[in-house]
Amino acid sequence: MPTVPTNGIDTAYTDQGQGDGAPVVLIHGFPYNKSMWDDQVAALTGSHRVITYDLRGHGESGATSGPYTMEMLADDLHELIETLSLGTVALGGFSMGGYVALAFARAYPEHLAKLMLLDTRHLPDSEQAREGRENLAKQVEADGVEGVAGALPGRMLTESTVRDRPAVAARASDMIRAASPAGVAGSARAMALRRDQSDMLPGISVPTLIVVGDQDGITPPADAEAMAAAIPNATLVTIAGANHLSNLDKPDEFNRALIDFLSV
Ligand code: MLT
Repeated sequence: MPTVPTNGIDTAYTDQGQGDGAPVVLIHGFPYNKSMWDDQVAALTGSHRVITYDLRGHGESGATSGPYTMEMLADDLHELIETLSLGTVALGGFSMGGYVALAFARAYPEHLAKLMLLDTRHLPDSEQAREGRENLAKQVEADGVEGVAGALPGRMLTESTVRDRPAVAARASDMIRAASPAGVAGSARAMALRRDQSDMLPGISVPTLIVVGDQDGITPPADAEAMAAAIPNATLVTIAGANHLSNLDKPDEFNRALIDFLSV
């Protein structure tokens, strides 16, 4: 697996496919890794260059002790983009990856050709959510990631996915098992610390795709609709019958949304 040095760690990435448009860079969600994009990579690489990578503390990338910040994770991404000489990119972020994408859009707008905000939101955590993040961080620091690996995918996938396609839930759990406790704790605390990005949405000038599962209870459709209303050049796609991990619940519908957006 190739890596690039990014601010003191090695970041693992994949770089596949080719096409005329801006390279597509996809940021995974918490606490998964770049393999959550396998179905999208398969669908897109016939017509696009697609880069996926593991965030600090996840998958095969290095971990440091936290707390991380979204700005730090955006700086890691900037290093990756600069090192690979990608120029301007079509940047897609899923959930926590979307929090990173918004931090990146604020810090490095010159690198954006298009933006994809996928099952994510612009708003910060509530006080109650922050407490939950701290509890989760302490749990993984004390006991490792197994408890999270067992519990989280079932809350993020639809009941029918868990029941009828158990391999999908097992794959999601295995991704969590590949994350380090320091990375999961550092990222949980980064989400608790993240800022409200509402003020920057009207200034996003690039074409923006917003995708949300209609059953997403973590980053709900109301937030996706609010982002679509605030971003001038936004397209909203709501996927029926999908929970938070809409790319795993409904890969065909999710891929169609990305292909339609990236092909214009
Ligand atoms: C994610 O999927 O990245 C996280 O669930 C996002 C969150 O908890 O806010």
